[in-house]
Amino acid sequence: MTLKSFMPVLAAGLFFLGACTPEKQPDNEELTESRAEALAEQKLATGKRVYEANCAGCHDAGVAGAPKPGDNAAWKERLTPGFEVIVKKSIEGFDGKSGAMPPKGGNAILTDEEVSNAVTFMVSNPNTTSR
Ligand code: HEC
Repeated sequence: MTLKSFMPVLAAGLFFLGACTPEKQPDNEELTESRAEALAEQKLATGKRVYEANCAGCHDAGVAGAPKPGDNAAWKERLTPGFEVIVKKSIEGFDGKSGAMPPKGGNAILTDEEVSNAVTFMVSNPNTTSR
């Protein structure tokens, strides 16, 4: 499932939050929080699947200097310009200092969301603290 399919749920959640009365707020905050958690989990699950199928070939082994999930130091440095910047570079592809990262890892049918989720997974590896 893509993040897109969760957008209506997210929209409904935001509407619900906006419409709530002050005394009901604690309940709804809890609800929204668990919803946000569920969304984040889905993003990671999708990202892991996309990563394993499309990115692991280079990134697991560090081919041509591809940063490995869990390589804290490498990701910390790469995340300096911002998460959105490195997602955009992964979507468009780029020639880096150590090698070439093909657009969407070479799989043009991936959606931007799927690539973004894969990057989320890569930088959110349990061994990575540089989020
Ligand atoms: C053909 C090998 C290859 C594949 C497949 C590949 N990558 Fe890469 N990727 C690279 C290399 C090499 C670099 C490092 C380039 C450099 O900085 O010199 C890189 C760098 C990156 C970076 C860091 C960007 C930055 O700004 O520093 C991200 C994020 C990334 N890849 C995401 C992905 C995702 C997501 C996929 C799968 C959809 C993927 N890559 C598939 C080779 C690959």
